[in-house]
Amino acid sequence: MSYFTFSNATQDQRRAFALDVHLGLSAPQKFIPSKYFYDENGSKLFQRITELPEYYLTGAEAEILKTYRESLAQYFASEPFALVEMGAGDGEKTKILLEHFLARGLDFHYAPIDISESALSELELSLSEQFPTLSFQACLAEYASGFSEIDNFSEARTVLLFLGSSIGNFSFPEIKLFLKTLWHGLNKGDFALIGFDLKKDIKTMQAAYDDKEGITKAFNLNLLHRINRELGGTFNTEKFYHHEIYNPKESAMESYLISLEAQEVYIDALKTTYRFAPYEAIFTERSYKFSDSSIRELAHETGFEIVETFKDSKQYFADSLWRVVK
Ligand code: AVJ
Repeated sequence: MSYFTFSNATQDQRRAFALDVHLGLSAPQKFIPSKYFYDENGSKLFQRITELPEYYLTGAEAEILKTYRESLAQYFASEPFALVEMGAGDGEKTKILLEHFLARGLDFHYAPIDISESALSELELSLSEQFPTLSFQACLAEYASGFSEIDNFSEARTVLLFLGSSIGNFSFPEIKLFLKTLWHGLNKGDFALIGFDLKKDIKTMQAAYDDKEGITKAFNLNLLHRINRELGGTFNTEKFYHHEIYNPKESAMESYLISLEAQEVYIDALKTTYRFAPYEAIFTERSYKFSDSSIRELAHETGFEIVETFKDSKQYFADSLWRVVK
């Protein structure tokens, strides 16, 4: 393994997964944290989601990055910088920036962070093929721990990328806490470019998370398959269905897996049986939808100033460039 990782990572990850599954399935409102979507299978399914016609987020953000890459280059050109990306995934959108920044001769080092080992090793391979002159170092970690590890090494200005509206997987109060934590690790004048999916017509959002081909359904059910594979679970995935709903009170798309009948599921790694009532729900993901005012509120309450907010032609998505104030 060529990337930076922690010792005993796999074993620790397995233990953390088991503990989180136990906590989630023992709670009165069952849940499984959405970060567990991204094993090898889940990362591949997510990649397919990004190519779906209904999943407008990726295309809208790619349009923004293509349209405004030169504006971004001008903000970053004045000094060398570390381009740190949280949740890089397959890096397809980021490559729009990498290609342009290299062509413009900007002096930067790229540090992609991701929790999916398979996505990261594919990214490494494609980066060395497509951009032989790019200086980069991938890091297998969760957002915050990866960021603080990388930030310890970097003297240069940091440009933090957090694309795709992945920040929307947190609840609004959690987002504030997370941004505040990032702010503490950043220096005055550092930048963050953050992707926010915007509120829009509910049918459009609903379709994006409940596609015709059923890829999102497979992505959601993969959580149960992963528990079966890694923790010796006994989920019969045919006894659960994918439920997607926009919750206007929470400003979020919400994903659930609903038990079709009364059933018991034994998980060997936990030596525990979990009971499901008919139509009982496991909450699996929140995808928060933002407004201009919620973006402003987040920036200003967590120590950033908004430099410029870029939107696509349909106003579906925003990439907001922030600068650290200290
Ligand atoms: C990768 C978290 C941005 O919430 O839209 C896609 C994940 N879930 N389809 C999102 C996802 C269902 C995605 N993020």
